[in-house]
Amino acid sequence: MTRIVYVNGDWLPEDRATVSIFDRGFLMADGVYEVTTVADGKLIDFPGHVARLERSLRELDMPSPASAEELLAIHREIVAKNGVSNGRVYLQVTRGNPGDRDFVFPDPAATRPTLILFTQVAGRPEDSAEAKRGLKVISVPDIRWARRDIKTVQLLYPSMGKMMAKKAGADDAWFVEDGFVTEGTSNNAWIVKGGRIITRALSNDILHGITRAAVMRYADEAQLKVEERSFALDEAKAADEAFVTSASAFVMPVVEIDGVALGSGRPGPVSQRLREIYLEESRKAAL
Ligand code: PDD
Repeated sequence: MTRIVYVNGDWLPEDRATVSIFDRGFLMADGVYEVTTVADGKLIDFPGHVARLERSLRELDMPSPASAEELLAIHREIVAKNGVSNGRVYLQVTRGNPGDRDFVFPDPAATRPTLILFTQVAGRPEDSAEAKRGLKVISVPDIRWARRDIKTVQLLYPSMGKMMAKKAGADDAWFVEDGFVTEGTSNNAWIVKGGRIITRALSNDILHGITRAAVMRYADEAQLKVEERSFALDEAKAADEAFVTSASAFVMPVVEIDGVALGSGRPGPVSQRLREIYLEESRKAAL
């Protein structure tokens, strides 16, 4: 089916949507993005995604293409136009097309940012085969830049990480720096030990996951103890359970790290419970 996508104020069939070869997103990876889940036709954690988008733009001195209210309206319209029940909305903002290649940022008064959105359809999270069997991850060195808190479109190394995982017969990779796990290629990493849930504290080292924040809130409400601290790869391998969080994976159990099975080697009870709580609570708050 041909999707209807959004490009700078226009609604177009996907095969007619284009951006310039001089767009800085294309030439310089000078762009930021957000991925918002759609569940039962509604947007999950939208205020968090829009707040993080605004922060990413601010950190890069990039003008904002639309207000939070306008972005909500565009998200709702794209979901409706494409009849998405379960899936995602991908949004990208770049510094636009200055008409040539130049390392210097263009004058924002003369070059407007590029804003594009498209939808992706997914199955119901309850039917996820991956969630039932759990993910196998491998560890790879974290050689990304030092501002991982900004959600930029510089995703080459995360893509390479996924490919390394695939080659090793695994599902995904966890990045490791100085012996400690930073995060997954496209998700935040968590371990469970002795009933405590552990995830790295926020800093420039990791993306400030919106799903991570929601899971922390819900875990607290469910009286599950959360520790925000770094954990070593060896500690992760000795954990009872592990999982990752992201807008596309929700709470996704991890059952193996570098070939070492965690606990029973099957999705653990805490990860499964948190997945259920997250799916239930985030739907209640959906817009
Ligand atoms: N990825 N860490 C990284 C490096 C990510 O790319 C993501 C999200 C997360 C989780 O953030 P959130 O909970 O806000 O989705 C953590 C998205 C889903 C992607 O690139 O497709």
